[in-house]
Amino acid sequence: MPLTLPRVIGHRGAAAHAPENTLESIRCAAAFGVAMVEIDVQLSRDEVPVVIHDDTLERTTTGRGPVIDLTWRELQALDAGAPFGRPFTGERIPDLTSVLALCKELQLGLNVEIKPSPGTDVRTAEVALKTIDAFGPIGAPLVLSSFSVESLEAARDLAPHLPRGYLIWERPADWADIADRVAAASINFDHEQETSESIAAYKATGRPLLSYTVNTAERARELFALGVAGVFTDFPGRILRVA
Ligand code: G3P
Ligand code: MG
Repeated sequence: MPLTLPRVIGHRGAAAHAPENTLESIRCAAAFGVAMVEIDVQLSRDEVPVVIHDDTLERTTTGRGPVIDLTWRELQALDAGAPFGRPFTGERIPDLTSVLALCKELQLGLNVEIKPSPGTDVRTAEVALKTIDAFGPIGAPLVLSSFSVESLEAARDLAPHLPRGYLIWERPADWADIADRVAAASINFDHEQETSESIAAYKATGRPLLSYTVNTAERARELFALGVAGVFTDFPGRILRVA
Protein backbone atom coordinates (compact mmCIF):
# COMPACT_ATOMS: atom_id res chain seq x y z
CA MET A 1 0.00 0.00 0.00
CA PRO A 2 1.49 3.39 -0.90
CA LEU A 3 2.48 5.57 2.00
CA THR A 4 0.19 8.55 2.55
CA LEU A 5 1.96 11.40 4.26
CA PRO A 6 0.48 14.66 5.50
CA ARG A 7 1.26 17.89 3.64
CA VAL A 8 2.32 19.60 6.85
CA ILE A 9 4.34 18.03 9.67
CA GLY A 10 5.03 19.99 12.83
CA HIS A 11 8.81 20.19 13.27
CA ARG A 12 9.86 19.26 16.81
CA GLY A 13 6.17 19.93 17.57
CA ALA A 14 5.65 23.57 16.67
CA ALA A 15 9.17 24.79 17.35
CA ALA A 16 8.52 28.46 16.57
CA HIS A 17 5.71 28.68 19.08
CA ALA A 18 6.74 26.51 22.03
CA PRO A 19 9.92 24.86 23.32
CA GLU A 20 10.92 22.30 20.70
CA ASN A 21 10.48 18.60 21.40
CA THR A 22 8.32 19.15 24.50
CA LEU A 23 4.78 17.92 25.13
CA GLU A 24 3.62 21.54 25.03
CA SER A 25 5.13 21.92 21.56
CA ILE A 26 3.23 18.85 20.37
CA ARG A 27 -0.03 20.14 21.87
CA CYS A 28 0.58 23.46 20.17
CA ALA A 29 1.13 21.80 16.76
CA ALA A 30 -2.07 19.80 17.22
CA ALA A 31 -3.96 22.99 18.08
CA PHE A 32 -2.85 24.45 14.73
CA GLY A 33 -4.42 21.42 13.04
CA VAL A 34 -1.45 19.41 11.74
CA ALA A 35 -2.00 15.70 11.22
CA MET A 36 1.55 14.72 12.26
CA VAL A 37 4.46 15.95 14.35
CA GLU A 38 8.14 15.09 14.14
CA ILE A 39 10.33 14.61 17.20
CA ASP A 40 13.99 13.64 17.74
CA VAL A 41 14.93 10.67 19.92
CA GLN A 42 18.26 9.80 21.51
CA LEU A 43 19.35 7.82 24.56
CA SER A 44 20.04 8.87 28.12
CA ARG A 45 22.98 7.28 29.95
CA ASP A 46 20.66 4.58 31.30
CA GLU A 47 19.20 4.01 27.82
CA VAL A 48 15.85 5.73 28.18
CA PRO A 49 14.77 7.11 24.79
CA VAL A 50 14.51 10.85 25.36
CA VAL A 51 13.10 13.54 23.09
CA ILE A 52 15.67 16.23 22.40
CA HIS A 53 17.45 17.42 19.26
CA ASP A 54 21.02 18.40 20.13
CA ASP A 55 23.42 15.88 21.62
CA THR A 56 24.26 18.49 24.24
CA LEU A 57 21.93 20.19 26.70
CA GLU A 58 22.91 23.87 26.63
CA ARG A 59 20.75 25.28 23.83
CA THR A 60 17.35 23.97 24.88
CA THR A 61 17.61 23.20 28.59
CA THR A 62 19.07 24.46 31.83
CA GLY A 63 21.55 21.55 31.79
CA ARG A 64 25.12 21.29 30.55
CA GLY A 65 27.13 18.73 28.64
CA PRO A 66 26.21 15.70 26.53
CA VAL A 67 22.70 14.23 26.86
CA ILE A 68 24.20 10.73 26.97
CA ASP A 69 26.17 11.56 30.13
CA LEU A 70 22.99 12.02 32.22
CA THR A 71 20.50 9.47 33.48
CA TRP A 72 16.79 9.82 32.77
CA ARG A 73 16.28 10.91 36.36
CA GLU A 74 18.91 13.64 35.99
CA LEU A 75 17.48 14.79 32.67
CA GLN A 76 14.00 15.05 34.18
CA ALA A 77 15.27 17.57 36.70
CA LEU A 78 16.20 20.02 33.92
CA ASP A 79 14.00 22.80 32.61
CA ALA A 80 13.36 22.46 28.88
CA GLY A 81 10.99 25.45 28.78
CA ALA A 82 12.91 28.28 30.43
CA PRO A 83 15.41 28.86 27.56
CA PHE A 84 12.48 29.41 25.16
CA GLY A 85 10.72 31.92 27.34
CA ARG A 86 9.09 32.58 30.66
CA PRO A 87 5.58 31.21 30.05
CA PHE A 88 7.10 27.80 29.37
CA THR A 89 9.22 27.54 32.51
CA GLY A 90 8.93 24.09 34.00
CA GLU A 91 8.48 22.15 30.74
CA ARG A 92 10.45 18.90 30.88
CA ILE A 93 12.37 16.79 28.40
CA PRO A 94 9.83 14.09 27.57
CA ASP A 95 10.61 10.44 27.10
CA LEU A 96 9.39 8.67 23.97
CA THR A 97 6.62 6.86 25.86
CA SER A 98 5.02 10.09 27.02
CA VAL A 99 5.06 11.40 23.44
CA LEU A 100 3.43 8.20 22.20
CA ALA A 101 0.77 8.59 24.89
CA LEU A 102 0.09 12.20 23.97
CA CYS A 103 -0.15 11.41 20.24
CA LYS A 104 -2.58 8.60 21.06
CA GLU A 105 -4.65 10.97 23.20
CA LEU A 106 -4.65 13.65 20.49
CA GLN A 107 -4.98 11.16 17.61
CA LEU A 108 -1.95 12.77 16.06
CA GLY A 109 0.44 11.10 13.61
CA LEU A 110 4.06 10.80 14.72
CA ASN A 111 7.41 10.86 12.91
CA VAL A 112 10.04 9.46 15.26
CA GLU A 113 13.43 10.66 14.07
CA ILE A 114 16.13 8.37 15.45
CA LYS A 115 18.95 10.73 16.35
CA PRO A 116 21.79 8.65 17.81
CA SER A 117 24.65 10.26 19.62
CA PRO A 118 27.95 9.07 18.09
CA GLY A 119 28.46 5.32 18.40
CA THR A 120 24.88 4.52 19.46
CA ASP A 121 23.27 4.17 16.02
CA VAL A 122 22.05 0.60 16.36
CA ARG A 123 21.28 0.73 20.07
CA THR A 124 19.20 3.93 19.75
CA ALA A 125 17.12 2.31 17.01
CA GLU A 126 16.73 -0.88 19.07
CA VAL A 127 15.56 0.95 22.20
CA ALA A 128 13.23 3.30 20.32
CA LEU A 129 11.63 0.41 18.46
CA LYS A 130 11.27 -1.67 21.61
CA THR A 131 9.54 1.29 23.24
CA ILE A 132 7.19 1.80 20.27
CA ASP A 133 6.37 -1.89 20.22
CA ALA A 134 5.76 -2.06 23.98
CA PHE A 135 3.44 0.97 23.83
CA GLY A 136 1.31 -0.50 21.05
CA PRO A 137 -0.59 1.32 18.30
CA ILE A 138 -1.22 5.04 18.77
CA GLY A 139 -4.28 4.95 16.51
CA ALA A 140 -2.64 7.33 14.02
CA PRO A 141 0.16 6.91 11.46
CA LEU A 142 3.63 6.36 12.91
CA VAL A 143 6.72 6.65 10.73
CA LEU A 144 10.45 6.56 11.44
CA SER A 145 13.30 8.53 9.96
CA SER A 146 17.02 8.99 10.45
CA PHE A 147 20.14 10.55 8.98
CA SER A 148 21.97 7.47 10.27
CA VAL A 149 22.10 4.69 7.69
CA GLU A 150 23.06 2.27 10.46
CA SER A 151 19.95 3.22 12.44
CA LEU A 152 17.77 2.81 9.34
CA GLU A 153 19.26 -0.61 8.63
CA ALA A 154 18.58 -1.66 12.21
CA ALA A 155 15.00 -0.38 11.92
CA ARG A 156 14.53 -2.23 8.63
CA ASP A 157 15.57 -5.47 10.32
CA LEU A 158 13.77 -4.98 13.64
CA ALA A 159 10.54 -3.31 12.55
CA PRO A 160 10.14 -3.79 8.80
CA HIS A 161 6.45 -2.84 9.04
CA LEU A 162 7.24 0.75 10.13
CA PRO A 163 7.88 3.09 7.17
CA ARG A 164 11.35 4.61 7.16
CA GLY A 165 12.23 8.03 5.81
CA TYR A 166 15.80 8.40 4.60
CA LEU A 167 16.95 11.81 5.81
CA ILE A 168 19.50 13.41 3.53
CA TRP A 169 21.97 16.13 4.50
CA GLU A 170 24.72 16.91 1.97
CA ARG A 171 23.57 14.25 -0.51
CA PRO A 172 26.09 11.41 -0.74
CA ALA A 173 27.03 10.09 -4.18
CA ASP A 174 25.45 6.71 -3.37
CA TRP A 175 22.17 8.11 -2.00
CA ALA A 176 20.04 6.02 -4.39
CA ASP A 177 21.76 2.78 -3.30
CA ILE A 178 21.29 3.71 0.34
CA ALA A 179 17.59 4.46 -0.22
CA ASP A 180 17.19 1.00 -1.78
CA ARG A 181 19.26 -0.72 0.87
CA VAL A 182 17.29 0.69 3.79
CA ALA A 183 14.04 0.17 1.82
CA ALA A 184 13.20 3.82 2.36
CA ALA A 185 9.51 4.64 2.17
CA SER A 186 10.27 8.33 1.64
CA ILE A 187 13.19 10.63 0.94
CA ASN A 188 13.39 13.54 3.36
CA PHE A 189 15.68 16.31 2.16
CA ASP A 190 16.89 19.75 3.22
CA HIS A 191 15.23 22.16 0.77
CA GLU A 192 18.11 24.62 1.08
CA GLN A 193 20.65 22.17 -0.34
CA GLU A 194 18.69 20.93 -3.35
CA THR A 195 17.83 22.10 -6.85
CA SER A 196 14.79 21.30 -8.96
CA GLU A 197 17.03 18.75 -10.76
CA SER A 198 18.08 16.92 -7.61
CA ILE A 199 14.47 16.96 -6.37
CA ALA A 200 13.41 15.45 -9.71
CA ALA A 201 16.04 12.71 -9.28
CA TYR A 202 14.63 11.86 -5.85
CA LYS A 203 11.13 11.84 -7.26
CA ALA A 204 12.20 9.52 -10.09
CA THR A 205 12.82 6.78 -7.51
CA GLY A 206 9.03 6.67 -7.09
CA ARG A 207 9.15 7.53 -3.40
CA PRO A 208 7.16 10.31 -1.77
CA LEU A 209 9.33 13.27 -0.82
CA LEU A 210 9.36 15.26 2.39
CA SER A 211 11.35 18.42 2.91
CA TYR A 212 12.67 20.19 5.99
CA THR A 213 12.56 22.82 7.46
CA VAL A 214 10.18 24.94 5.41
CA ASN A 215 9.10 28.06 7.21
CA THR A 216 7.64 30.30 4.52
CA ALA A 217 4.43 29.83 2.57
CA GLU A 218 6.20 30.86 -0.64
CA ARG A 219 8.83 28.12 -0.37
CA ALA A 220 6.23 25.54 0.61
CA ARG A 221 4.20 26.41 -2.52
CA GLU A 222 7.30 26.00 -4.71
CA LEU A 223 8.13 22.63 -3.20
CA PHE A 224 4.55 21.37 -3.52
CA ALA A 225 4.64 22.47 -7.17
CA LEU A 226 7.82 20.37 -7.64
CA GLY A 227 5.92 17.35 -6.39
CA VAL A 228 7.00 17.32 -2.76
CA ALA A 229 4.40 15.43 -0.71
CA GLY A 230 4.87 17.23 2.59
CA VAL A 231 7.02 19.62 4.56
CA PHE A 232 8.31 19.84 8.10
CA THR A 233 7.75 23.29 9.55
CA ASP A 234 8.29 25.28 12.73
CA PHE A 235 5.27 27.42 11.72
CA PRO A 236 2.36 25.05 11.09
CA GLY A 237 -0.21 27.85 10.88
CA ARG A 238 1.59 29.59 8.00
CA ILE A 239 2.07 26.47 5.94
CA LEU A 240 -1.36 24.92 6.53
CA ARG A 241 -2.86 27.91 4.75
CA VAL A 242 -1.13 26.95 1.49
CA ALA A 243 -1.09 23.16 1.83
O1 G3P B 1 13.05 15.25 10.14
C1 G3P B 1 13.23 16.52 9.63
C2 G3P B 1 14.22 17.32 10.43
O2 G3P B 1 13.89 17.22 11.78
C3 G3P B 1 15.63 16.86 10.23
O3 G3P B 1 16.58 17.73 10.75
O4 G3P B 1 18.15 18.51 12.44
O5 G3P B 1 15.81 19.30 12.52
O6 G3P B 1 16.37 16.97 13.15
P1 G3P B 1 16.74 18.15 12.28
MG1 MG C 1 14.44 16.12 13.50
